Amino acid sequence: MSKNFKTLRQAFVYAKKNISKKKWNWMSCGSEREYTTNENLNYFKKFKIKQKILQDVSRIKTEKLFLGKKIKFPMLIAPMGYMAQFHKHGEKGLALGAFKSNTFMCLSAVSSFKINEITKNEKKLNLIYQFYSLKPRGWVKGELRKISKMGVKAICITTDSPVRSIKYDIIEDKHDARKYGWMGLPRPPLQHMSKLTWSDISWLRKQTKIPIIIKGVMNVEDAKKSFKHGANMIWVSNHGGRTLESGISSLEALIKIRKKFKKKLIIFDGGIRTGSDMFKALCLGADYVCIGRPAIWGLILNGSNGVSQILNLFYQEFRSIMGLSGCNDIKKISKNYLTK
Ligand SMILES: Cc1cc2nc3c(=O)[nH]c(=O)nc-3n(C[C@H](O)[C@H](O)[C@H](O)COP(=O)(O)O)c2cc1C
Repeated sequence: MSKNFKTLRQAFVYAKKNISKKKWNWMSCGSEREYTTNENLNYFKKFKIKQKILQDVSRIKTEKLFLGKKIKFPMLIAPMGYMAQFHKHGEKGLALGAFKSNTFMCLSAVSSFKINEITKNEKKLNLIYQFYSLKPRGWVKGELRKISKMGVKAICITTDSPVRSIKYDIIEDKHDARKYGWMGLPRPPLQHMSKLTWSDISWLRKQTKIPIIIKGVMNVEDAKKSFKHGANMIWVSNHGGRTLESGISSLEALIKIRKKFKKKLIIFDGGIRTGSDMFKALCLGADYVCIGRPAIWGLILNGSNGVSQILNLFYQEFRSIMGLSGCNDIKKISKNYLTK
């Protein structure tokens, strides 16, 4: 089966053919009837891109600073766990793919590999480190000491999964993702996830100077609380529709949150599948966007090179959309490029 893909659509088709149905379902599915997952994808259709003609787009600037580093264009890779089931290098492949494309990857709290295994051969990877649980305190302090030495650039606390969601595909398929990987035992203390509160964020803020990102912010009140409790950035996300079912799309949440917070840094994910989706998310207020599932398609097809190729295809599409819309500088992207 061919693994050599030339478009994002082809990556989807080939990846699906190159992996078992159960693994594909595990990765693609959302909770219950997948209304949220589909809402994420469909909400992009509400917006149309306006074309401004005669703008000199012979040079298009897409570079942007993220955590002090210049990245080629503002796309990062979202945290996703149990990746060893898709490729033997699992999260290492995602991290290296991001690094090769000069961007960042957020390492999942339930990664198939420990961070020291991931950074063993490549010390300079651009990593964000995700926590689901901030207890027991001793364990968190140990993790903070470890990741500071490894040059992790930010910490991400995922807050949208306090309890397990019901994903029909995974239950019906009896698919246990945990049996792949976890070379790096022991597992993180996930039994404390449901106890996470705002006071844990305040506690964490006092423990470290590493930037803190709160992931899973879906409304203005929680955005306000995130900044009040010391977050440097928020990450608007509904976990790709894999946690709360029947919520609003993350794009709709982004619009509402950006309206209230004009200057704060916002990462966005949920449903980005093309360069035009990315352009719309930036127009609607995202400073940076993340991809989840599409990065796994690349991982399935060709490990870190496949991940890098996915990022490259997004880059080409995004750059093309910028040029066609008449926008020659990422700094000029605004909601003026959109209409309903
Ligand atoms: C297979 C899979 C595993 C995921 N694992 C995690 C995780 O460990 N931690 C986390 O914060 N989010 C996790 N997520 C959510 C992603 O970080 C991200 O929010 C979501 O995939 C973005 O939506 P998209 O897949 O439509 O791009 C996971 C998503 C998928 C698809």
